[in-house]
Amino acid sequence: MGKIIAIANQKGGVGKTTTAINLTSCLAEVGKKILLVDIDPQGNATSGVGVDKNQLENTSYELFIGNCTLEDCIVESQVSNLWVLPSNVNLSGAEIDLIGVDDREYILKNEIDSIRDEYDFIIIDCPPSLNILTVNAMTTADSVLVPIQCEYYALEGLSQLIHTINLVQERLNPELDIEGVVFTMYDARTNLSLEVVENVKANLRQTVYKTIIPRNIRLAEAPSYGLPINLYDSKSIGAESYRLLAQEVIYNEMGKEFDVNSFDLSQFDKKKPQKKKGLLKRKKK
Ligand SMILES: Nc1ncnc2c1ncn2[C@@H]1O[C@H](COP(=O)(O)OP(=O)(O)O)[C@@H](O)[C@H]1O
Ligand SMILES: [Mg+2]
Repeated sequence: MGKIIAIANQKGGVGKTTTAINLTSCLAEVGKKILLVDIDPQGNATSGVGVDKNQLENTSYELFIGNCTLEDCIVESQVSNLWVLPSNVNLSGAEIDLIGVDDREYILKNEIDSIRDEYDFIIIDCPPSLNILTVNAMTTADSVLVPIQCEYYALEGLSQLIHTINLVQERLNPELDIEGVVFTMYDARTNLSLEVVENVKANLRQTVYKTIIPRNIRLAEAPSYGLPINLYDSKSIGAESYRLLAQEVIYNEMGKEFDVNSFDLSQFDKKKPQKKKGLLKRKKK
């Protein structure tokens, strides 16, 4: 059965979408079959894997309001093994549309449950808010992965997020786990990044991922080409770190201890990243 991970943090700009794009692409690269679910109206995860968010007939919005089926809205991405349930600005109206709808916390879960066996991992990119969309993601997911940016205010808002996760556990999804926190935009040249990591580790009881994502300009450039980092610059430190994170996620899933230092990255050098040829194929109506 596929594992469902929601990437959540109500703070914007902490690396949720960057992690969603590149973690899914690196999981797909090692042969896992992946569905990336975009429920952020910004649609940056959608465009980040090469899907034109403005040319979509059906998106997660239509799914939420019951105007389409999963089959209608899931599309192929530019990456082999990676499919997308896309999103665009339409979704910003969902909060209002869903007022008064019965079981509105379970809409996504009811849909995704029917296809979870078809994928090895389903990764949900959440909006920067603890709204009904994020609650839907947490109700659907097996676990929540929390990106934390290595900056001074890293811990701000984290207790609110953990409180929300606890409420969802109590009331909507008793199976929900905290997958762990992953540090992003680590800058080895500053003491601040190191202090943030130490501080969070000392103050947080949650699992902390051994893989730390460094600040890497290539990670910021890749989305404008509609490519994940492993296709945009396969040898960059950003690509290597997201490959490590993908391996760590796989190890966690298998219950195996992950040693970030002994992991052999050279295996990736032999592998040619798989980019699809030609234009994106979309389902014909
Ligand atoms: N490791 C990184 N190195 C450099 N830039 C990054 C990194 N992670 C994210 N960014 C950039 O920071 C900004 C916010 O990241 P994003 O993933 O969109 O955050 P969120 O989804 O949490 O709002 C984006 O411009 C992104 O390209
Ligand atoms: Mg985002």
